[in-house]
Amino acid sequence: MTTQELQQAFEQAYGRKAEKIYFAPGRVNLIGEHTDYNGGCVFPCALSFGAWLLIAKNNDKVLRFRSLNMPQVYEIALDAIKPQADRAWCNYSLGCMEIIHRRHPEAKLESGYDLLYYGNVPAGAGLSSSAAMEVVTARAFTEEMGWKDADDKKYRTELALIGQACEHEYAGVMCGIMDQFASAQGKKDHAIYLNCDTLDFEHVPVKLNGIKVVITNTHSPHHLDSGAYNDRVRQCKTAVEQICKVKPIKFLAELSPEDWETVESAITDPIAKKRARHVVGEVARTSAAVEALKKGEIEYFGELMTASHISLRDDYEVTGPELDALAEAAWQVDGVLGSRMTGGGFGGCTVSLVRDEAIDAFKKFVGEEYEKKTGLKADFYVAEIGDGVMRLA
Ligand code: GLA
Repeated sequence: MTTQELQQAFEQAYGRKAEKIYFAPGRVNLIGEHTDYNGGCVFPCALSFGAWLLIAKNNDKVLRFRSLNMPQVYEIALDAIKPQADRAWCNYSLGCMEIIHRRHPEAKLESGYDLLYYGNVPAGAGLSSSAAMEVVTARAFTEEMGWKDADDKKYRTELALIGQACEHEYAGVMCGIMDQFASAQGKKDHAIYLNCDTLDFEHVPVKLNGIKVVITNTHSPHHLDSGAYNDRVRQCKTAVEQICKVKPIKFLAELSPEDWETVESAITDPIAKKRARHVVGEVARTSAAVEALKKGEIEYFGELMTASHISLRDDYEVTGPELDALAEAAWQVDGVLGSRMTGGGFGGCTVSLVRDEAIDAFKKFVGEEYEKKTGLKADFYVAEIGDGVMRLA
């Protein structure tokens, strides 16, 4: 949808024009999976898919929520901002507003607003549609509450932290910072090499001559639920506690593969041990992959992606039959440098590096193999790496 079409939709809903329009992207993670809440590094990029938010003040001291993707409409009094029952979609938005107040008590919403959301991140694809909605809301309402310097890096990091707190408290997913950070700090044609402990980061150019980043959607009915995700968070904590008996650490990501050899036997819980082995290996793979990309060693980058998938399949156990079917088919195609699941896992998408001349063969072979194995049809998107959250008008 164009900005003009969105403006028309706003006018149709509210009988006047929106005053401001904002956009925040979804993300794809190239490598560094399930490392963020373990104090490790990640390497995501913002996409050109995302969430749009149009707003206009009203004189009624109410917040009116509409979305072009959802039938439910909500009207909530300004002095009664709290989560709504039945997982109402406006909770992501209300959560951000409440968390802005809490983290910045001086920030106040003085007026009511009419809001219209629209998102084009494929639903359930693990490409961070909820993070996009949180970050676009945080961007719009911090500005309405008087924040300046929206292009400042610190401001953008704060938007990501507001979004993450909203996910924890209003959606019950104890996620790391990666998704919201990518949505807030993305840069066109760059990936973000982020240290999730210190929040220091670097934009690394993704210059892949003759190679594309291809996202493949499983359209799987299995979704990452908060239960399976939060279990992984807990299992990693157990591993940290057991390792602390022989070596004091705060996060698994502090361990190098050499350290692992010396602490591994301290983990008595076999599940926790597998989870920790993935995290230690994945952190090492991620920094090696970033180095490889900087040196133009794209083949090696691809190999590390594939190794990441195998570790997520065997040790972290977050892939499942659909993601495995896609990745395993991709590995057989000439011209595929690497392929792995991206995001939380279970359903969602894979990300692959594919040579331009192999893209058609890749889509055909992977699509057919996938349908044979699962009965489902996959979708393919060539990723466009875009900018982070912005005001469009
Ligand atoms: C989800 C979470 C992220 C991250 C990934 C796995 O997308 O929201 O914080 O943990 O899973 O890497």
